Amino acid sequence: MRRCSSVRTAHHCPRETAMRQERLKNFNDARFGMFIHWGLYAIPGRGEWVRYQEDIPPAEYAKLADQFNPRHYDPRAWARIAREAGMRYMVLTAKHHDGFCLFDSQHTEFTSVRTAARRDLVAEYLDACRAEGLMAGLYFSVKDWSIPAYFRGPEADPSGWQECVDRFHRQTLELMSNYGPIDILFYDCADDADFRGGWGERTAEVWDSETLNAKVRQLQPGILINDRSGLPEDYATPEQTVPMEVPDDTRMYESCVTMNDNWGYAIGDGNWKSTDLLIRQLIACAARGSNYLLNVGPDPDGVIPAPSVDRLREMGGWLRTHGEAVYGTERLLPNYFDVHSTGRITTKGKQAFLTLDQWSTTGELVITQLANEVLAARLLPTGEQLSVHREGRRVVITGLPAHSPARYVNVVELDLDGPARPQYHSH
Ligand code: GLC
Repeated sequence: MRRCSSVRTAHHCPRETAMRQERLKNFNDARFGMFIHWGLYAIPGRGEWVRYQEDIPPAEYAKLADQFNPRHYDPRAWARIAREAGMRYMVLTAKHHDGFCLFDSQHTEFTSVRTAARRDLVAEYLDACRAEGLMAGLYFSVKDWSIPAYFRGPEADPSGWQECVDRFHRQTLELMSNYGPIDILFYDCADDADFRGGWGERTAEVWDSETLNAKVRQLQPGILINDRSGLPEDYATPEQTVPMEVPDDTRMYESCVTMNDNWGYAIGDGNWKSTDLLIRQLIACAARGSNYLLNVGPDPDGVIPAPSVDRLREMGGWLRTHGEAVYGTERLLPNYFDVHSTGRITTKGKQAFLTLDQWSTTGELVITQLANEVLAARLLPTGEQLSVHREGRRVVITGLPAHSPARYVNVVELDLDGPARPQYHSH
């Protein structure tokens, strides 16, 4: 791989910057990705925080590695499920808070290569992403419960803490050096120190994140880095929520969301979100030009639970006929076009897509959010023409069929006289 070597930090390398902008555009257009939380915690099946929450003695937890031998691990199958769901990238937990590495690390024995599985699960996953044409992302937890010094903290144990920082840097750089091109690096929990509360503004300093991220960018020109190493980097990552706006309006964000109430495999958790809700959340992200990273928690054998697969298949079916309203839509933060209680409006050039949570019972729809002239209205996916006219502030669409044509959210495509402009209420 060619590296940026002419400048001291990759941030200033023009080639790196151009590649990064292009990748950010592709990432932003992609809209929809698969988050995969998978590791030893899948065996007890009580979520990925089980070691910490149940205070499992480290030696006992470590024994799970002797059982972790996922014979049905087939990341090509994961990638196919993702692609058929309309997802365009994946992000796998290379290492979660428990410290167990799904990759071949030289800095710990606690890896899938040195224990029962005897496989580099990350290498196989990355091959699968590439084979299925998906952008490849890796999640890496800065928090590491497998290092005793992590719990003592830098004040009580400065040299132990240095070991934590070194391991964080070295393992991240292993992932960046040994596996070919990586598109996305999703750090987690640099700011969250269990033994002393959070690090707040000192996070990046405590972990020396600036130095590390500059090295990451040298090794992987164009890589996208999230905002959880204590530095804002390329994009924000709100969790379990689709915010109306983010503090810095100019940045894109990616909402990561679970399908039930856990990230890791949880046998007893049947609280699955409906496909309808998942589609609405995806649209809410698209309406802000942001992404939706939807999580799956495969079982100990590497199989994605059936309720997740079912929902993903249904989302894929909807996206095949309504994807125009989602992929590549514009970044509007905040989006002034929300059609309260009825749905949302996503925009793209001179196009607007009215996404409807409820079907009209009158054959008619009225919206007041657009200042534009609406030249034509069509129902997706058939392209059936609808009548449209303006009455003052109101755009009135008529001729809707009596019964909802789509199983989930319906979409009316509007041709506008120019880029969408919001119309505010005067009273
Ligand atoms: C939180 C949790 C973690 C999960 C992550 C996903 O930080 O600690 O378990 O991986 O959110 O965004």
